[in-house]
Amino acid sequence: MDEQALISAALSARAGAHAPYSGFRVGAALACADGSLVRAANLENASLGLSVCAERNAVAAAVFGGQRDWRAIAIATDAPGFTPPCGACLQVLREFAAELTVLLVDRDGAVERHQLSDFLPLPFLDYPRSGQGR
Ligand code: THU
Repeated sequence: MDEQALISAALSARAGAHAPYSGFRVGAALACADGSLVRAANLENASLGLSVCAERNAVAAAVFGGQRDWRAIAIATDAPGFTPPCGACLQVLREFAAELTVLLVDRDGAVERHQLSDFLPLPFLDYPRSGQGR
């Protein structure tokens, strides 16, 4: 995995944000197992609750494109510090990835490295009736 390319992809993805309400642009990039990168940004709506985070848009784009096996996700914002994924995005990432490297990227390109399981140690995994899960 070309980590620098992944970080650059997340930083550049911010330009695709539609964030007129919060003014907070978020770019996300997934590094897929086949070496491809899938980028997305946050998409807000006048009906604020309909806004979708960059991470979930990246998951949707990757899965629709046939990429469900990922090595890492990078998340870049315009904030001076690092922005971890929200709880909803963690749960949606966990749907496809039992473990995943999460790179938080600040506006200057500095990087903090985490694992998905550190953020979400006890995910909801399946309906009890299926007998499957973690
Ligand atoms: N946002 C993301 O895109 N990812 C996160 O992990 C947290 C928040 C977006 C949603 C909204 O468009 C803006 O940031 C402010 O919450």
